[in-house]
Amino acid sequence: MDYAGRRDRLCRLLRRLNLQGLLVTDRLNVTYLTGFTGEDSYLLIWTEGQLLLTDARFSQQAQEECPELELVVRPVGSTMLEALGRAIRSARVGQLGIEAENVSVEFFDRLSFRLRRVELLKTTGLVEQLRQIKEPEEVQRIRQAVWQAERAFRAMWATLRWEKTELDLANELEMYLRQFGARGSSFPPIVACGERSAWPHARPMPIPITTGRLLLVDWGANEGLYQSDLTRTLIVGRISAKLGRLYQVVYQAQQRAIGAIRPGVSAQQVDAVARRVITQAGWGKRFGHSLGHGIGLAVHEGPRLGPLRRNQPEALLRPGMVVTVEPGVYLPGFGGVRIEDVVLVTRTGCELLSSLPKSLEEMILQ
Ligand code: GLY
Ligand code: MN
Ligand code: MN
Repeated sequence: MDYAGRRDRLCRLLRRLNLQGLLVTDRLNVTYLTGFTGEDSYLLIWTEGQLLLTDARFSQQAQEECPELELVVRPVGSTMLEALGRAIRSARVGQLGIEAENVSVEFFDRLSFRLRRVELLKTTGLVEQLRQIKEPEEVQRIRQAVWQAERAFRAMWATLRWEKTELDLANELEMYLRQFGARGSSFPPIVACGERSAWPHARPMPIPITTGRLLLVDWGANEGLYQSDLTRTLIVGRISAKLGRLYQVVYQAQQRAIGAIRPGVSAQQVDAVARRVITQAGWGKRFGHSLGHGIGLAVHEGPRLGPLRRNQPEALLRPGMVVTVEPGVYLPGFGGVRIEDVVLVTRTGCELLSSLPKSLEEMILQ
């Protein structure tokens, strides 16, 4: 990965915004810009220099992971704030951007108190903006995370027995994810059967899956750095007419939305395509979340595929973005269906990175 190139792009963005520097505190932003994968370490980047501030627990790791960066190791006995104060004063900047969504009010106040001559400016989403467009190597790693998740799901699916519980399946998924090379789950798997599938983010319980006809599974792999996020809704036994219709509506909403993804189309338009299908079926109010989100170092990152929010400009899709497409309809007392896949925006349209079956017929467990 070209970390120096990413830092150059950030510097160009800072110049455009008339910012003399940025204190990068968000752990994933630090990783994105440096390759460093430890914790509690900050990147200070300004017009004339860059340094990574860490502590003795991570100094060797930092030397290995980002040998081209100047390292400042906080001495034992001094606080991060003291070390930061010194580093920022020696950078001689008059003003400095702070990642406002990442630091606490307490941290901001204390740093301002220490650096009375430096104007601290609240910024949001600067590095996150760069992270939205994935480089080929990043796409490759997301593909790997998708592959691991799919292999794990197939292994769990192949040994699925009706007497197993939601919790059994969640535990099996986590075990198989590691078996297929993942570091672990990208988030605790959601396994919800029957009426509980109407809770979009239910926690798996020791309940046998036969207690209902629907079995919603939402899981993902952390391949080491990059994440995947998929959902399949299986059907246990016989299908009723209502259930069949529910599934087909969500399936069609997803197919249409994926068909609408290409560069230049806004993320809000893609959400609207899926929402229209579900609204026309009479379930618009039961689709209570966004259609999807960007995915990469974090499970949830930009762009958001959702309805336009007040004071928010439309976000245009661009080649290199990787997003989930996950329409869902949740009927209290009955159950919910969600289908989620990972999609890469290409120069001419899009490519589905996930490939598990999802037609109604294929979802039925006999
Ligand atoms: N697993 C959370 C989501 O689908 O966004
Ligand atoms: Mn998910
Ligand atoms: Mn998702």
